[in-house]
Amino acid sequence: MNILNGFESGAIEQAVAVLTAGGVVAFPTETVYGLGADAFNPYAVTKIFEIKRRPRFDPLIVHIYSKDWMFDIAEHVPVLATHLADRFWPGPLTIILRKKSIIPGIVTAGLSTVGIRMPSHPVALELIKTLGRPVAAPSANPFGYISPTRAKHVIKSFKDKVRIVLDGGDSQFGIESTIVSIAADDDKVIVHRHGAIPVEEIQAMGITIEEKKGNDTCEAPGELPYHYAPVKPLIIIDTFKESLLESSSFLGFIEKKEKPTVRYIKYLSQDGDLREAAANFFSHLIDLDREDISVIYAEKIPDKGLGKAMMDRLKKAAQKCVLQGVEKYDGS
Ligand code: TXA
Ligand code: MG
Repeated sequence: MNILNGFESGAIEQAVAVLTAGGVVAFPTETVYGLGADAFNPYAVTKIFEIKRRPRFDPLIVHIYSKDWMFDIAEHVPVLATHLADRFWPGPLTIILRKKSIIPGIVTAGLSTVGIRMPSHPVALELIKTLGRPVAAPSANPFGYISPTRAKHVIKSFKDKVRIVLDGGDSQFGIESTIVSIAADDDKVIVHRHGAIPVEEIQAMGITIEEKKGNDTCEAPGELPYHYAPVKPLIIIDTFKESLLESSSFLGFIEKKEKPTVRYIKYLSQDGDLREAAANFFSHLIDLDREDISVIYAEKIPDKGLGKAMMDRLKKAAQKCVLQGVEKYDGS
C-alpha cells in the first residue's frame, strides 16, 4: 500500500492512473474516507465490493466534480434537488435521483435510483476532476464496521488490499453525508440517513421533511437494523455510573471532572459542541474498540442537529449487541 499526501504534486496523477486502469484508491472526503473506483466501469466497481466484503445489495454513492454532472447521470432532476444542490454542494449531502443507464447496475445494487454527491474536500474534488468521470465510493471500512476519518484507519483495515491511499488529513465533519430523496410531487424531502447536514438546515429553507419509513425489504444497508458497529458490543447509557464494568471503554459526550473507573475513556467534546463531537465520533469509537475490553459504554447524545446522526449510529451499533444476545443494559 502506498500512502501519498494528497496535497503533494503528482499524488493525484498516480491515483488517477490506478482509477483509469480499473483499480481502486482510498481518498479523503470532508465526511469520511472513501474507497473509490470509476463509476462508469462496472468491473472496477466490483472490486470495491470484494475489498469491503460488502453485500451486492448495498448501493454506492456516486461522487461528482461539478453540479452539472448531476444532469449527466440522473434521468430527471426535480426542482427541489437543484435547490438542495445549490445550497449544500459542494458538501456532505447525498441526493437520490432516478438514474440514467450510463450508471452501471452494480453501482446502485440494481436500484433504478442513484445517490449523488459533490464533496467539498479539495483532494476529492481534484481527484474526480482529473479523472474526468464520477467516482463511485462507499466509506473505506470493512462492511458494517466504523467509518474511517483518518488515512491510518484505512491502512489498518485494508493494508495490502488497496494500492493507494491519498492522505488528506482528518475528515472535517467526521460523520457521513446526510442522504435524501425527493418526494414524487417535488414538494418534500425524504431523509434516508441522518448525517453531516442536520435536517434542521434543510427545514430552514422552508422545505418539508419526512423520515423514510422503515420497510421490511432491505433497500439499503444504511437502513439495516445494525451497522457502523465496533467489534466489541456497544451499550448506550444515560450517563456514567459507578456500576459499569471495569474492563470497558467509555465514550462520553461532554468532558467530566470525575474520572470513570473504566479502562479507556474518550470524550466527544469539551462543552457539548455537536460539530466537535461529530468530528471526533468515529475516530474515538475506533480507539475505544480494543482487544482487552468486553464492552463499550456510550453516553447518550442530544437527539438534535448533528446529535441525531450520532445517536442513529450508536443505536445501530447497539442493535448488533442486542441481536447477538448481549444483555441489554438500561444504565441503572
Ligand atoms: O459521506 C458519505 O456519504 C461517504 C463518503 C465516502 O462520501 N460515503 C458513504 O457511503 O457513507 P456508504 O457506501 O458507506 O453508504 C452509502 C449508503 C448506502 O449504504 C445506502 O444506505 C445509501 O447510501 N444509498 C446509496 N445509494 C442509494 C440509493 N440509490 N437508494 C437508497 N439508498 C442509497
Ligand atoms: Mg459506510
